[in-house]
Amino acid sequence: TTPLRVALAGLGTVGGGVIRLLDANRDLITRRAGRPIEIVAVSARDRSKDRGVDLDRFAWIDDTRALADHDGADVVVELIGGSDGPALTLARATLAAGKGFVTANKAMLAHHGLELAQAAEAARVPLKFEAAVAGGIPVIKGLREGAAANAIARVYGILNGTCNFILSKMEAEGRDFAEVLAEAQALGYAESDPSFDIDGVDAAHKLSILASIAFGTQPAFADVSATGVRHVIAADIAEAAALGYKVRLVGVAEDGPGGLFQRVHPHLVPIDHPLAHVTGSLNAVVAEGNFVGRLFFQGAGAGDGPTASAVVADLIDIARGEYGAPYAMPAAALTAPSRADS
Ligand code: HSE
Repeated sequence: TTPLRVALAGLGTVGGGVIRLLDANRDLITRRAGRPIEIVAVSARDRSKDRGVDLDRFAWIDDTRALADHDGADVVVELIGGSDGPALTLARATLAAGKGFVTANKAMLAHHGLELAQAAEAARVPLKFEAAVAGGIPVIKGLREGAAANAIARVYGILNGTCNFILSKMEAEGRDFAEVLAEAQALGYAESDPSFDIDGVDAAHKLSILASIAFGTQPAFADVSATGVRHVIAADIAEAAALGYKVRLVGVAEDGPGGLFQRVHPHLVPIDHPLAHVTGSLNAVVAEGNFVGRLFFQGAGAGDGPTASAVVADLIDIARGEYGAPYAMPAAALTAPSRADS
């Protein structure tokens, strides 16, 4: 059988995880996908860095953009990050070359998701991004496929592991934000621009993608208002606890009479709500469907194993030939979100 041949851009935490996962689970992935999934070429900033994986078996490509035209590859996996720059150049070039594209890049999709979906549909190739939202939690599949028959009233959740870790530590130890920030960053989950985590930007990127799946709107970061956890102090958390609440950074997208409401901000969550029990760097997403009822997804929202798990799940779908419109309906049918909370 013909393998699915993959070119991989970016060999950070997640890129290394993808190589290790494909090695460790090779046989079962081949059986499930119906054919082998093989990395044929890789590109990253530094060839010599030790990533604990043998790179000699792959073609090394210095110019990341050239992966799009790499002869032996059917699909490009982009794990570079950044809304513009090399990631966007590679995405456009790959889709223009008629190849599939798999990405964990929430920032790029929040800003350019519509354009990329249109390009993928025009070329009739897959554009997949399970890893872009909530890491290993299959929430894109869950909403796009599992809840496909439902009208969704509301989707909301804890979408940033770094902030949830900070709030959990502040809560458990009574410490202030600045003290626990460095610990959160040492976890290795932080964005390269740490303000993206603590100011709610990363959660807003993810929320705009979730909203597009749940409500059929064009992903539009500009329509999400975001406030982060920078100004939360230990006393806020103690006061909330006294009243029976936990403080969580929650992103909410809700379809209302005034249009789509999309907002990220610290919330008071009642202690009997499932989100109150999501601690540490975990993520969770709740969706309310008119036939399925309330769905609750929880798991690791970052890290090499969980995020690689989502990337490789997308590759398995592509290897099987099971993929459709990136946003659950054709890009042309997505509506522009109106901002209901301004
Ligand atoms: N910086 C993100 C987080 C990583 O802390 O959740 C996963 O997108």
